[in-house]
Amino acid sequence: MTLMQPLPGFRDFLPEDCAKRNYIFARWRRVARRYGFVEWEGSPLEPTELYKKKSGDEIVGQLFNFTDKGEREVALRPELTPTLARVVAAHEREFKKPLKWFSIGQFFRYEKQQRGRLREHFQLNCDIIGENDLAADIELVALCIDVLRTFGLTEKDFVVRISDREFWTGFLRERNVPAERWDELLQIIDRSGREPRDKTAEKLGKLAEPVFATLHSGGKSEKLDRLIGGLRARGLADFVQIDVGIVRGLAYYTGIVFELFDRAGKFRAIAGGGRYDNLIAQLSDGAVSLPALGFAMGDVVLSELINEIPRAREAMQKAVASDRKIDIYVVIAKEERRADALAQIQQLRDRGYRVDYPMTPTKVARQFQAAEEAGAALALLYGDEWPQVKVKNLPTREESLIDHGALLDSVAKFFNVGSSA
Ligand code: HAM
Repeated sequence: MTLMQPLPGFRDFLPEDCAKRNYIFARWRRVARRYGFVEWEGSPLEPTELYKKKSGDEIVGQLFNFTDKGEREVALRPELTPTLARVVAAHEREFKKPLKWFSIGQFFRYEKQQRGRLREHFQLNCDIIGENDLAADIELVALCIDVLRTFGLTEKDFVVRISDREFWTGFLRERNVPAERWDELLQIIDRSGREPRDKTAEKLGKLAEPVFATLHSGGKSEKLDRLIGGLRARGLADFVQIDVGIVRGLAYYTGIVFELFDRAGKFRAIAGGGRYDNLIAQLSDGAVSLPALGFAMGDVVLSELINEIPRAREAMQKAVASDRKIDIYVVIAKEERRADALAQIQQLRDRGYRVDYPMTPTKVARQFQAAEEAGAALALLYGDEWPQVKVKNLPTREESLIDHGALLDSVAKFFNVGSSA
């Protein structure tokens, strides 16, 4: 193992990567807040038991878990939903329902590393707690679509595939399949789209033919019709498609489920979610029972899709470049003026401007070059002109001399005019 690289499936974020990540986080946060969701955060380390109880075998097999120094069995969180259920059950009385909560955080799954799948990733989670009505499912799917739309992506770029787990639980009930086997069978059906038909058929045994027939026939229900109708009323129907093959790998889902994919079918799911009306009751041993639904969107596949679509990629590059820019570069042309310059730099920074300057004596031409490279709008030169300061508008090259006492007002005027133009 080399110490010069991160562990397999882990990433370092260099400044450019961090800027891209912040671009994604800012849009996630903005749209969630637009829908009236409030931000929260859970603990990153949990008792392993929390996931064993209800997430399902697939995710338990991928846990980063260990025994801590206090002999506790713990795991880095692979997802947020069980933590959310725990927190809501513990604090239920403190909040009016429905709760609309979102969170942005890092998650850990020991997966086989492949395109779109790492061992850490960031997710936006949006959940609604305490609302039974289908209006909440419509709101959640609309939010998921609108998050992607803010990246410049359209119905030509991605699709939300929607289903209802009750199709399959009804199907298994009709065939008298014992409830203990449902989780396992639902996971097999969930994976059927990604596996050779023979392999799925072997696992399903005598259920294989009716499962394939159901998958083939598509799905229809009054509930799904109403859901699509609700999205149509918002002008979002072109973003969705009914697909009974969507079952979801996690064990706790109970009703409407959905996954978001790129239209070209190049990547794995960008987001996934659905209703989990029993999870809070199950985790709190019946102490609190609340219907719930939510989704999570990952940063890894989303970044790949943004890079793939020129419109979205250019918007990100533009935002990242403009975010990197500073406002003002202070050129220290005479070392005797350094103390005066630093006093004004402090005042400018106190007023919120992004200001940089050379920390050691540097040729004036090099300082101007640094100002250009940093994308500064103004250069302030401290030299022979003191007590006046030379102010240079870098894009237009215009120069003027301002008395240092009037400098702060003059800078404020420049940026106010600039920002309202
Ligand atoms: P999930 O489908 O397991 O759902 O994950 C959601 C999204 O996280 C995926 O669509 C994918 O973009 C991303 N993701 C998951 N694993 C990885 C990985 N190893 N590498 C990169 N990206 C990954 C959940 O986690 C549910 N808790 C969502 C939810 C919230 N359901 C209700 N509320």
